[in-house]
Amino acid sequence: MAEPDEVLRVAGLRKRFVTRRDLLGRPSRHIDAVDGVDLDVRAGETVALVGESGSGKSTTARLVARLLDPDAGTVTVCGTDWTALRGRALRARRRDLQMVFQDPYASLDPTKMVVHLVGEPLAVHAGLRGRELDARVADLLERVGLPARHLHRYPHEFSGGQRQRIAIARALAAEPRVVVADEAVSALDVSTRAQVLNLLQDLRRDRGLAFLFITHDLGVVRQIADRVVVMHRGRVVESGPADRVLGAPADPYTRALLAAVPDITRARGRAAGRSPSEELPS
Ligand SMILES: Nc1ncnc2c1ncn2[C@@H]1O[C@H](COP(=O)(O)OP(=O)(O)O)[C@@H](O)[C@H]1O
Ligand SMILES: [Mg+2]
Repeated sequence: MAEPDEVLRVAGLRKRFVTRRDLLGRPSRHIDAVDGVDLDVRAGETVALVGESGSGKSTTARLVARLLDPDAGTVTVCGTDWTALRGRALRARRRDLQMVFQDPYASLDPTKMVVHLVGEPLAVHAGLRGRELDARVADLLERVGLPARHLHRYPHEFSGGQRQRIAIARALAAEPRVVVADEAVSALDVSTRAQVLNLLQDLRRDRGLAFLFITHDLGVVRQIADRVVVMHRGRVVESGPADRVLGAPADPYTRALLAAVPDITRARGRAAGRSPSEELPS
């Protein structure tokens, strides 16, 4: 049974990619990128999904946002099973869950002005036009710390941090209950990252917004996560309250992951050295 305040529930999610085919076009090699993942996010909660590169975090995010169809499993958003939805029914529910990606330049159409980028969900879902739309977008820009007068600028006229704010404003325009952020602050410099993280924390406090926050940066996890889900090779190897998982990890992989980043202050620069998998007997 779904908890009443549960905004996202993922159960038994699976996705296999064929990585090689033989001469007859038959699959000869595959990878189980997501191999039976369960997780849930409650209203107002930030759940960090962590794991080294290739562990299946982005595939999980894309399955959750229905940018990819799962081979098995269910994604339930605010009580509605998304996996059963198609076409118009899915589009109507999409506003409940929004995504923010790592590279806001790639995810923002460069030919559109900010008013249209951010305003699109408002035009589509609420039918706003003209001045009404301008005013709502101006509000949203201010909400994410951008000057409202930037309404008629294009993405290339902004810095990376500002573009990420635009992407967040766009996500917020849909008035979602949960935001899936895939390495959303990873490309930002340290001070911009801190600003964007503060913004996300404010949104969570003020609007009860929930986050599934995907990152490989454990410093960020310490800063914002209520709970942590650790992925390794397509599976969840450990999950629990952030303090417990980070302070007393139960799984050897989590321990290796934490050991690969011995000092959070140094990790803020660049974590060098071996990847956690190399530290483990296989
Ligand atoms: N479209 C795809 N086709 C084939 N393999 C893929 C595809 N997308 C991801 N993979 C593979 O699935 C695994 C998980 O990738 P991904 O979900 O991007 O991991 P993460 O985000 O944790 O780095 C990786 O081995 C990756 O190479
Ligand atoms: Mg990824």
